[in-house]
Amino acid sequence: MNQGWRFDTIAVHAAQKPDEKTGAISQSIVPAVAYAFPDTETAAAVVSGSKEGTYYGRYGNPTTRTLEQKIAQLECGEDSIGLSSGMAAISSALLAFLQHGDHVVVTRDVYGGTYNFITLLAPRFGITYDFVDCTDADIVRAAIKENTKAIYVETPSNPKLTILDLPMVASVAKECNLPLIVDNTFMTPYLQQPLELGADVVVHSATKYLNGHGDVLAGFVVGKREVIDFIRKRIAGDLGQNLNAWESFLILRGLKTLGMRVRTHCDNAMKVAAYLNTHPQVAAVYYPGLATHPQHELAKKQMRGMGGIVSFEIKGGLEMGKAFINRLQLAMISFSLGDPETLVQHPASMTHFSIPKHERQLFGISDGLIRLSVGLEDSADIISDLEQALLMIDTTLSERAR
Ligand SMILES: Cc1ncc(COP(=O)(O)O)c(C=O)c1O
Repeated sequence: MNQGWRFDTIAVHAAQKPDEKTGAISQSIVPAVAYAFPDTETAAAVVSGSKEGTYYGRYGNPTTRTLEQKIAQLECGEDSIGLSSGMAAISSALLAFLQHGDHVVVTRDVYGGTYNFITLLAPRFGITYDFVDCTDADIVRAAIKENTKAIYVETPSNPKLTILDLPMVASVAKECNLPLIVDNTFMTPYLQQPLELGADVVVHSATKYLNGHGDVLAGFVVGKREVIDFIRKRIAGDLGQNLNAWESFLILRGLKTLGMRVRTHCDNAMKVAAYLNTHPQVAAVYYPGLATHPQHELAKKQMRGMGGIVSFEIKGGLEMGKAFINRLQLAMISFSLGDPETLVQHPASMTHFSIPKHERQLFGISDGLIRLSVGLEDSADIISDLEQALLMIDTTLSERAR
């Protein structure tokens, strides 16, 4: 029925139709954990997967299933699984391919939670890793060992917004017969579809743009049906990482406006980045939409828009950076991103605090770096807020110079 539908139409309609009994257009929330079967043969068929159905809440839920089907269509994947957080999705996807004795190649500047999982938890299960610069095919190739079983990347990266050439990394992965896993949280499928660019698995923190309202923690893994089935049965199901019906309903509701929201996030972020880029108190701006971004051309080729995250450094380093953040009135100091509200954070002391300082610096995360998740407010109001805080920096630094 949806052959040829465009993104915004898929986001509204895919996998959903009015409830057969009541005609309700809005998705029904099914909180049931247990499901009854007419006979033992049907129960066995559903458990084995030969018949579509739900048998126990830890392995699936009808409301969540609707959402999983919609996410799979939005990402152009065969299937998807909804999980209790982005980290549940990332850890499950990695554990689907890695076991004791295996090695994983990971791009350098990943989300702090991913870094923790790879460096602290995975080694307890005998998994080793190397963080490498995945902007260079030869470096990726050189990092692959005999026991490497997956390549894991994030693009644009958090928080430096480094862009990786996904078809290039995918071709190295294919050469070496390895699955490529991509965290697409910053982009959403509206801006970038990694499976179409050669990746094998996509992971999401749906806590961010997919839900988009800051009131749900959730994650998704999208990929081939056998990978998703394995995660459902052998990893997430056994670890108890399921996503519940109420939160699935909220994400289904949020997804209907995904395209609209992301377009506004992108427009606002571009205006904010352009403003910061010319401000005398700003030392550097990292935003792929700026012509000065080193991978601007690549970003234009692989992304439909540049996203809502702008990172920057202001003059005066850590001290002035913190003073600037504390001065903001509209932007809220927060760990999250992708919400309607503009959110600001200081990676070195917040999201990336767990990464040792020397490694943070290797990843390009300086102590003065600030990450802004540009919200859906009027862009003029967001810029006025930045302006009044930058004015304070201006005054402080010129008083010191006197
Ligand atoms: C890029 C990225 N991936 C994954 C996560 C983890 O998501 P969650 O908090 O839903 O577990 C985050 C969280 O900020 C993130 O920024």
